[in-house]
This record gives sequence, C-alpha cells and structure tokens, in this order.
Amino acid sequence: MSQSITIEEYQKRRARLLARLKKASAHAIAVIPSAQLQTRSRDTEFPFRQDSDFFYLTGFNEPNAVLVLAPHADAPVQLYCQPISPHEEVWHGRRLGVDKAAETLGIDFAASIDDVDDHLYALLDGTEKVYFAHDKHDLAAQLYSIADELRASPKQGHQAPQAWVDINPWLAEMRIIKSPAELELMREAARISVLAHKRAMLFAKPGKFEYQVAAEIHHEFAMHGAISPAYGTICGGGENACILHYTENQSELRDGDLLLIDAGAEYQGFAGDITRTFPVNGRFTETQKELYNVVLAAQQAALATLKPGSNLPTAMKAAGKTLTEGLHALGILKGSLKKLIDDEAFRPFMIHGLGHWLGLDVHDVGTYTQEGKKRKFEPGMVLTIEPGIYIPKGMPNVDEKWHGIGIRIEDDVIITENGHENMTSAVPKTVAEIEQWMTAK
Ligand code: GLY
Ligand code: MN
Ligand code: MN
Repeated sequence: MSQSITIEEYQKRRARLLARLKKASAHAIAVIPSAQLQTRSRDTEFPFRQDSDFFYLTGFNEPNAVLVLAPHADAPVQLYCQPISPHEEVWHGRRLGVDKAAETLGIDFAASIDDVDDHLYALLDGTEKVYFAHDKHDLAAQLYSIADELRASPKQGHQAPQAWVDINPWLAEMRIIKSPAELELMREAARISVLAHKRAMLFAKPGKFEYQVAAEIHHEFAMHGAISPAYGTICGGGENACILHYTENQSELRDGDLLLIDAGAEYQGFAGDITRTFPVNGRFTETQKELYNVVLAAQQAALATLKPGSNLPTAMKAAGKTLTEGLHALGILKGSLKKLIDDEAFRPFMIHGLGHWLGLDVHDVGTYTQEGKKRKFEPGMVLTIEPGIYIPKGMPNVDEKWHGIGIRIEDDVIITENGHENMTSAVPKTVAEIEQWMTAK
C-alpha cells in the first residue's frame, strides 16, 4: 500500500494556484466543484467518482462540495461541503462534516454547501476575474445566476465580475508534471494492473467468455486496493479486438483466436492503462506471430525514443516507420518502401494515436503542443505508448489470411531525468514470454 498524498502537498498545490490568482489580478477568485452523484437507474446511482481537479486540490472524496480560492479574503482557502446529518448518513454514508473539514484537509474555512450561494454572492461582488472550468456547465449556470443578481442591484453598490476565465489550462499544466508522491501512486496503479493482466493470461481459455476474463481482472484489482478500473475494461477476442473501445465483452473466446485486453486499475485516483494481446489457447499461430512481432517492434522503437527534450511525434515517427517496414516485409503493404514510409502507409492499420498523458484521468490533462510547437517531454511526465495493427474482416487489398486480427501493445512510462521508466514492463510481452507464462501453469 503506497502512502497517500500528504496534506502539505495539497496545501502546496493550492498555494501555487493562489499565487497565480494574485498575479493575474488584484481581485480574482477560483471556484472548483466536486463531482456529483450520477443516476444509474431511477433512484440508484453509479458508484461515486470524484472530479480529478477537485481531488487534485483537496484529496476530499465526497460529492456536493465546492472549493473556493480567494487570495484577498481573510480565509483564502474555503470549502463548502455536506453538513453532518444523522438521517442522511444512515442512508447514504458518512460525511466529514463542516466542523472537521478545516483541520482534516488543512484549509482555512469550511461551511455548509447549503450556504454556498450566499458566500459566492459576497465573493463575486466586485471581483474582477473569476476562474472556473468552462466545461462545467452546472457551475457556470450557478455562477452566472449569482452574477445576474449582482448586476440587478448596482445602486446598492454591487458589481458583477468583469471576466470569466477558464482555469483548465492552469490545472492541466500543474497536473502534467507528477510529483514524487504521485509517481509512487502511479507505480502502484501500474503494479496492480500488471498483476491483473498476468492473471487474465492464466485464466483465458477457449470456451471462457470475455466478461469472465474482465471479472478476473477486476477481482485482482480489488484484492490490491483498487476497487475500480480506471476506464471500461476491454476484452476483445478475435475480430472484436478491431473495435478500439470494445467494452461489450459478451463473446465466447475461441480456440485459435487472439484476445486483446486493455485494462487498468485506478489506485487512489491514479490510472493504470495496459494492453496486451495474446492467444486464447496459449500458442500463437505463425500468422499471428508475424503480425504481433511487427507491433512489438514498433512499440520498442517508440519506447527507445522517450527521454527529456524529445516528443510524442518523434516516438510516433519511429513507430510508424517500423510498422510500415513490418507490413511491407509481410507483403501486406506493397511497392517502394521509401515511398510507403514517406506516405505513412501504416495509417489505415492504426487509426488511433500512439499514446496519451496518463494520471488522475486515463486520458490525462495537458496539451500536446506548446506555443504552436510539439510539446517536449520533461521529467515527471507520464504517458502511454500503444501502437497497434487492426485488420478487420473485409479490409480491401489485404490477403484474407490476416483478416480478423487486432493487436495492440500498451505500456505506461515515466519520463525520467535521463530517459524513461517503463512501469508496466513486467507483463509478459514477447511471443516467448507470453507462451511461457501461459503454458507453464
Ligand atoms: N484504454 C484507453 C486507451 O488506451 O487509451
Ligand atoms: Mn488502454
Ligand atoms: Mn491508453
């Protein structure tokens, strides 16, 4: 079990935001809401999952809460949360409550969420800039409605905010570089995800169903303290592997097919995100092996480029070149190799990107360009590298022997001072490693 993020680290994050607010304006505030429960069916809800930005700034895991940062106020860090209520708690679960919030979370002031509009009315009055996430429409409606009230009473000296600014770019820039404590939690999310993939490889057999493989994975996650997957688990046997976000997981696994599993644990908010593709019966056919080794070589070529100062398009170029060479060598791509490489002829076989930032969100925040240029890697960034080849049935101009094969290989990587650390390399990956793991039960 890895250490959680300390109160001091949360305080430092909020202090950084407070300093930026102060610099941005003589009178600016930021409003960051928690997630809300979402209805699953009538009066039952989906399991609660905290908003990543709110969690990043508070570590507080309840719905119906709002964090306000107001550098000019007597209490610059304010939390509005659900008050203690024996009736509500006996139905819906324990609450931290207002009285304990300030000390437990290291904030300056706490009050009931029932009073947040009154406090926001006072805080917004005369404020120059209000920072909030512009994709949070419920919050926007709440803030604009309060601003309308202020606008309606200028003779009483009230004044609505002058500017609404999106806070997402600031938070994304903070979150894209992971602290040492965050990296520890990400290594744990990765470690648990590795165990689950190894378990799935041992479990899979002809006649098992995709959802049974998913159940094995989720069981392993939970046994290590990761009670939820970080995203919808993908278990795609045979041609189902060609559907990139296949989450139906209803089919029976067939002898002679490959199984693509894309699954990652969520541990203390952080995502793992691993894909492996392996034979249901433990042995690759020659055809599968040939195509698999092309994807593997492409992943290795991409991984080899990862270091500070490099960038994702450079890794993509290496992967793309290797995929094209491999597809050409197998006769799937025909013609001049140089021209095929220049034309990125692999593209119809891999329509998705090579990878993405990884963190509290599986597709984590952070831009991929900076000032119009490719974004350079820096130590503390975490990303996935996940090339694939997908040849659905009926793909034109491709020999039928390749039809119905989808292969992706995905690992989670930290950019370090001198290069990179692959956190998920312990899942068997070469043909020999996979066959050995699956048959040496
Ligand atoms: N599991 C989603 C992805 O690999 O991007
Ligand atoms: Mn994935
Ligand atoms: Mn991914």
